[in-house]
Parts: sequence; C-alpha cells; structure tokens
Amino acid sequence: MPKPEALLAAMTLPEKLGQLTMTASSYAVTGPVIAGDSTEAIRAGTIGNLLNMVGADHVNEMQRIAVNESRLGIPLLIGLDVLHGHRTVFPIPLAEAGLFDPLLWERSARAAALEASADGLAMTFAPMLDVTRDPRWGRGAESPGEDPWVGECFAAAKVRGFQGEDLARPDAIAAVAKHYCAQGAVTAGRDYATVDVAERSVREVHFPPFAAAVRAGVAALMPAFTDLAGVPMTANARLLRGWLREEMGFDGVIISDYNAIGELLRHGVAADLAEAAALALNAGVDIDMMADAYRRGLPTALQRGLVTLAAIDAAVLRVLRLKERLGLFEAPYRRGATALPVTVHAAHQALAREIATRSLVLLTNRGAALPLAPALKRLAIIGPLGDSSIDMRGPWWGAAAEEGHTTVLAGLRAALPNAVIQHVAGVSVDGEDHEGIAAALALCDTAEAIVLCVGETAAMSGEAASRAYLGLPGRQAALCDAVISHVAGQGKPVIVVLFSGRALAVPELAARADALLAAWFPGSAAGHAIADVLLGRHAPTGRSTVTWPRTIGQVPIYYAQRSGGRPENPQDHYTSKYLDESNAPLFHFGHGLTYSHFEWSNLRVTPQLIGVADSVEVLVDIRNAGDRDGEETVFCFTHDPVASVARPALELRATAHLSLKAGATSTAKLRFPAASLSFPGLDLAPRFEAGDLWVLVGPSADQARLLKAWIRVSTPAGH
Ligand code: GLC
Repeated sequence: MPKPEALLAAMTLPEKLGQLTMTASSYAVTGPVIAGDSTEAIRAGTIGNLLNMVGADHVNEMQRIAVNESRLGIPLLIGLDVLHGHRTVFPIPLAEAGLFDPLLWERSARAAALEASADGLAMTFAPMLDVTRDPRWGRGAESPGEDPWVGECFAAAKVRGFQGEDLARPDAIAAVAKHYCAQGAVTAGRDYATVDVAERSVREVHFPPFAAAVRAGVAALMPAFTDLAGVPMTANARLLRGWLREEMGFDGVIISDYNAIGELLRHGVAADLAEAAALALNAGVDIDMMADAYRRGLPTALQRGLVTLAAIDAAVLRVLRLKERLGLFEAPYRRGATALPVTVHAAHQALAREIATRSLVLLTNRGAALPLAPALKRLAIIGPLGDSSIDMRGPWWGAAAEEGHTTVLAGLRAALPNAVIQHVAGVSVDGEDHEGIAAALALCDTAEAIVLCVGETAAMSGEAASRAYLGLPGRQAALCDAVISHVAGQGKPVIVVLFSGRALAVPELAARADALLAAWFPGSAAGHAIADVLLGRHAPTGRSTVTWPRTIGQVPIYYAQRSGGRPENPQDHYTSKYLDESNAPLFHFGHGLTYSHFEWSNLRVTPQLIGVADSVEVLVDIRNAGDRDGEETVFCFTHDPVASVARPALELRATAHLSLKAGATSTAKLRFPAASLSFPGLDLAPRFEAGDLWVLVGPSADQARLLKAWIRVSTPAGH
C-alpha cells in the first residue's frame, strides 16, 4: 500500500486534523494572529505544517521532533513567502514582469528556490497572480500587473523556476499560486474589501493566470481572503471544486490564507467555527493556515453531519501525497543539508543586478538628459530614498536582512569613484518636515547634476497597504518643486528616480523633471542597476505592466477596456469623458523609453485566413533611428471589432525584443496560436468565432502608435 494510504489508515482524527493545519513560527509576522510554541503539538502529531520559519538548523530541529518523536513520524511541510528572492532580493514582481522575459522570470525563481531550500524550506507562497488595475491597492506590487496574458506567462515561468523538473530534488520547492481569485478587484482599492466583478471578468481576466499555473503543474494554490459577489473564496465550492479541480483537473493542495477560514464568521457566512470549517473543507480547502478552525471546528462539524470523514481523508491524502512528491518521507532533512557555495550566491547577486537593471522603466527623458555625462565630477543625491537599504528590498523580502542592499548613493559612488557625490534627504518620506529643503538646495549649488530619489517606502505597498492618494507622500513634491525651480536655467539636469510599489499620479513631476525613472523596488542590486542606467552603461529596457493614471479620479484605469456605445470623442459632448481631466493615462501599459528611438514599418501577418489549429505569424520591420545601440520591445495585440460579445479595445497576444545597432534595421518575428483568440461566449463557454480581426503591433498599448493589419478567422461552420 502506498505510504500516504498506509499512514491514513493508521491515523487518529487528531492526527488527520494536524496534517490539515499550518501554524506560523516566529520568524516573520504576516498576519493578525500569532501562534504560540508548536513543539508539543508537533510531538503529539496534531500540527503537521509550519510557515514563517527560516534557517536549516531551526527547520531541521522541528523536523527531527516530527520525524523522531511523533507517533507516526510524518515530516513537516514548511513554507515562507519567497516572492522576489530569499536572501538575494530581486525586483518586486510588478517590476520584474516589465522585463517581458519568461526565461529571466524563471531564473530568478530558480535562484530563490536554491536559497530557500538551502534554508530548509519546501514551499513558497508564490507566485502571486492577482491581476490588478487599481493602484490604490498595495498588493499590485506583488503581482505581474494588469494584463491576464502577462499573468499567464509569468505564472508558468515562476512555477517552473520554483519547482524545477522534480519536486523531490533538494533544490525544489512547492509553489503556491495565489490569491485565487479576483482579489485585485477589491472595492475602492482597499485591501480585504469585497469583490463584485462580473463572472465574465473572472473568466476573462482573473482566472487565466491560475489556469496557466495549473497547466504548469503548480503544487498548491491559495484562495483569496476576499469574497466574490458575496461568496468568500475560502468557501467557494463552485470556483475551487468546480473550476479548479473538476474543470482544470487540479489535484494539488489548497491552502487557506492566513486565518481566512476563521474569518468566514466575519464575512457573515458562518455562525461558528464548526460551520466555517465545514464550508472550507467542503469547498476543497485542504490546509487551514493559522485559524485553527480545522482542529477545533471539524470534530463538531462531523458530529453535526456538516462534513464527512471521507472528505477529511481526501484532504489528508492530498497533503501526504504532496509531502511524498517533495521527498520528505524518504529524506526529511534533504533540504538544508548543504550550504549554498559562495559562487552560487555571487551568481545570484549578478543575476539580481541584471534583472534590476532591466526592470527600470525610463518614463521621460527630455532633451536626452540621460545618460549623464560619465565625466561627472560633482553629483548631488537629494531625497529620503537616496540612501535607504531597507526600502530597496520592497515588500515581502523573504529572509533578506534590512541592510546590505545597494542604495543609490552607494551605487553611484561605486560607479564614479573619482566624483564627489553627497546626499541630503531634504524631507522624510511621509512626514510634514521641510526644514531640510534649504540644505538640499545648498548641495545642488555645488553639483553638476542632481538625482532626486523620492517615492514610497517599502511598507507603503504590499499587504494591508492601500493608499487613498497616489501622489508623492509627505512633503516630497515640495522638495522636488524647490529643487527643480532652484536650478532652473543653470543647465544642471534634474533626474528623478521614483521608488514605488504602484503607478503614482505624478503628472507635474513628469512635466518638470528632466528625466523620470521608475525604479519600483529593485532589490539587493538597486544602486548598481540605477547607476548603470543613469550613466549609460546599460540602456534602459524596462516597460510598465500597468497603466499610470494622471489622477486618482481615472482609477480603475487599464488599456483593455471595451469601448462602450459612446467612446470618447472630444467633438461630441455626449461621449465617455471627464469634464475636468483627459481619459488618457499619464503613461500607457508597455511604456518605457531607452537611449535610442525606433521607426516601425511593413507589418505582415500570415496566413490571411486563420483556422483554430493555425498559428499566426507577425513580422514587422524596425529601424534604430538613434545614435546608440538599443533594444526595442514589441507588443502584438488583436482587436475584434464585431463579435458575439463586445471585445476589449486591445488584447495582448505576444511580445518580443529586438536589439539593434545604431542605424540598423531588422525584422521582429512574433507568433501566437489562433486558438488563443477564443473568448468566453454568451454562455461563458470558450468560443472561437469567425470574423475579421485587427492585428496591431507597437511599442506600448498607445493606440496612436500601433501599426495594424486585418486577418480573417474562419471556422468549419463559419460561425
Ligand atoms: C498573508 C498573505 C498571503 C501570505 C500568507 C502567509 O496574509 O495574504 O499572501 O502568503 O499570509 O504569510
């Protein structure tokens, strides 16, 4: 008899419920309730899983208690939020997604898996796949952005990276796709708020990244804290058992979010813990993270007939099978047995610098203010984020220390060892103090160029970090205005480096700065990456995976909107627009400048007549019209102008990169399967529909800059 089945046959009910329980250790606090010491419960076999523990010694100490001192010796499953690096910190996912490079996305996950498994961990609560179109919400920082297709590609790459080819390998960790689903659509951008989106939006926008994670073999999945039209995801049998397990064939483990089962009482769908536990178990949730609802509620639920022992056994089997796939039974101490060689850490640092450099998004560059002259002798770093290691980590820093992440000041000093580079904060990030502005202006008087480092602290995005205003916090805008006005006319470039976990509404800054670089939170190599780009050692290549609003009044703002019956027409009063603001974003999805500029021509799409089994080939010529070598990113969208269900203005189908020497011309080649043109029909079932479609290519979702060509989709029945 297989090990899981044999163990199940021998287990008591408390031991079964222990395997369905995950309790937090004390390394990190990631939720409202804190557990006590779990040692006795592990010894008793009534806790089978832990989270927020780091360090092979601590992990193996707890593992030895479980294996050697509990009655059945079942190893613990231990997880941590390793979202964008473990000890080596990579840029936040919102930034890394802007590479549009699945290979690098996979490589950073692989590096994180090597470091996390060396620390004894067998699971990460990542990738986070919430599609987000509301920058008020802080968790967009953890996501791949506003586009479901990017989310699908990101999901598959991250699952491959974390899990590798074989979960039993010592350097493999189980990935957990989260937060299923539509958590990014929280009302008013407020974390944990109710979610009320149409089923069509769930199908078309929020579900695809999770479906891609399942197709990629993700080991586990975490439901969202939120409800979906009144049904909490933790108790949503239709979307967990129905869409995931039955429709997608997901046979992995479903882990609740932190105390989420207990919070079903606050949602107002359970009168007590027994009802909450029954709702979650019957919906398909296998592990109860930090609510202790299964241990304390399921025995009563059994007595009341709210659940069956068979349902409990099925959940226990899924957990034990995951532990078996991870090799925990045969080698419980395999992870963490050997420390990572120094050469591996060095390779990870180099990868972090490469990815951080490629994640920076050059939003504006007036008069080619960037790159800065390499012969610079005096540089002023102004602003509260110019020398802050802890903020370079971003939210969800894994096991990384607060210090040791290269700041802008350190990075520029390393890059220009003979220059005089000094830093004055001027103001704090979010205080009302502004006495330091005078000192900042005085430093500007001694410098040839000014780098303003402003934005959000790492704690201003991530979980429980929604913002009602999207401008610069505190008195930073006043600092920027003072500096820019002070040096006006002196020929000194003012470069703004903007740190944030979201798109910010900074139209004045964008208009007044000589250049604006979105750095997001670049991780351990932040200062080196920023120096590389500011000094032209690397031309910027990052693109934004979210649309930037001019003002919060435009939110939610995203490119893939349907046109409606009265799309904006400035000449017609009765059309969709604002009296006091443009509909246009500050920056489009996909926006990002470099140190060259490119000319696009000669779009060709084949075949002209497309069947569902075909793949569509797209060719477009691009010339580097600048005087520097550069890399262009190509976006390929489609638009179906007449369909059985109104289609978004643009739907992203493929991307590509093209590196071009100055003056050179080359052809970008993209390909996407015709089957990807399917969409949920009137009955929400996938529908591949005949008709004429536009194929549109360009450097972003700015429709004014797209080249387009027709293709005709045919179906056997012609419908
Ligand atoms: C948090 C987050 C979730 C995380 C979990 C464990 O509340 O919502 O993303 O994985 O708890 O830290």
